Amino acid sequence: MLSEVLLVSAPGKVILHGEHAVVHGKVALAVALNLRTFLRLQPHSNGKVGLKLPNIGIKRAWDVAKLQQLDTSFLEQGDVPMPIPEQVEKLKEVAGFSEDCAATERLAVLAFLYLYLSICRKQRALPSLDIVVWSELPTGAGLGSSAAYSVCLAAALLTTCEEIPNPLKDRDCISRWTEEDLEFINKWAYQGERVIHGNPSGVDNAVSTWGGALRYQQGKISSLKRPLALQILLTNTNVPRSTKALVAGVRNRLIKFPEIVAPLLTSISAISLECERVLSEMVAAPALEQYLVLEELIDMNQHHLNALGVGHASLDQLCQVTRAHGLHSKLTGAGGGGCGITLLKPDLEQSEVEAVKQALTSCGFDCWETSIGAPGVSIHSATSLDSYVQQALDGL
Ligand code: MEV
Repeated sequence: MLSEVLLVSAPGKVILHGEHAVVHGKVALAVALNLRTFLRLQPHSNGKVGLKLPNIGIKRAWDVAKLQQLDTSFLEQGDVPMPIPEQVEKLKEVAGFSEDCAATERLAVLAFLYLYLSICRKQRALPSLDIVVWSELPTGAGLGSSAAYSVCLAAALLTTCEEIPNPLKDRDCISRWTEEDLEFINKWAYQGERVIHGNPSGVDNAVSTWGGALRYQQGKISSLKRPLALQILLTNTNVPRSTKALVAGVRNRLIKFPEIVAPLLTSISAISLECERVLSEMVAAPALEQYLVLEELIDMNQHHLNALGVGHASLDQLCQVTRAHGLHSKLTGAGGGGCGITLLKPDLEQSEVEAVKQALTSCGFDCWETSIGAPGVSIHSATSLDSYVQQALDGL
């Protein structure tokens, strides 16, 4: 066991194309967002393991001695055990939830307990730790906040348990793990995501682990070689929704109308591939016509997503408002509210961007211009982010 404090961060994500289709084995294109989740892990000897999540007001602690007495053999299933419903039920008993405990809190605590007990059980004794996780990402908005949470937890717990080495050297402010270690982090993070979402495709945790821009299909990940120079307006409709329920809705529609829905998923996959092709062409020689193609792809995909039943009146409004300014938008993530993306062409005047932002804000939405293609999970020297950490802790 390492005795030092670890400070880890992982980015959120934006899916350009392929949400929902990716759950059914199709291609998705996703990019890491310049908004991150941070985790501080502090080993101590007070006999407790504590979890603090200031963004959602959670402060919980468990006696390590009590956890140690639990029969954790239910977690024994190979190297990176996949959570099954019976295990999740057992973890609920361990967690000791009160009746009025909100769903977000339950899922965050269950994913933590699952990863803590599974990763640390190989140690002679379960470690006494204090973990704080805070985020720049809104929760439940389709920006991969749960994946960034799982990735941070997996990276920090695997490192503190010396399952993977700490890549941070003496004078480094920031460092990243090797490809092989990232694969291990990603596998564990996926299990955390399974506790939270049931049966996710794995695209969110992959982007949060590797960062940059990725093409993802059935667990196969390939990084888009050169960085994209795309400017995007990200809008949060602030309409809450459940990824699990929306994914289940698409599955039901596919079962009910296979002849209609399967071609939609295939078409979305083709949109992802066409977008990838255009983006790679654009790196060499960007031209306005290519932006027009990207806009057409956005419009077609948004219609497909509506046909899959994951649209929402707030997203329609977002598309209409941006359309009135000559811009094209689609939902990103699970839909049903949450976030949308709008492509900003390079010839767009800043005053135009401000006008759209103003119009969207007056609909009750939050929006911001973002840079995409941020680095994946990283480890920071504890002092490099001192004041930032302090600010987050003050919020507790
Ligand atoms: C959620 O960010 C994206 C979905 O495709 C679900 C998944 O990939 O697991 C809707």
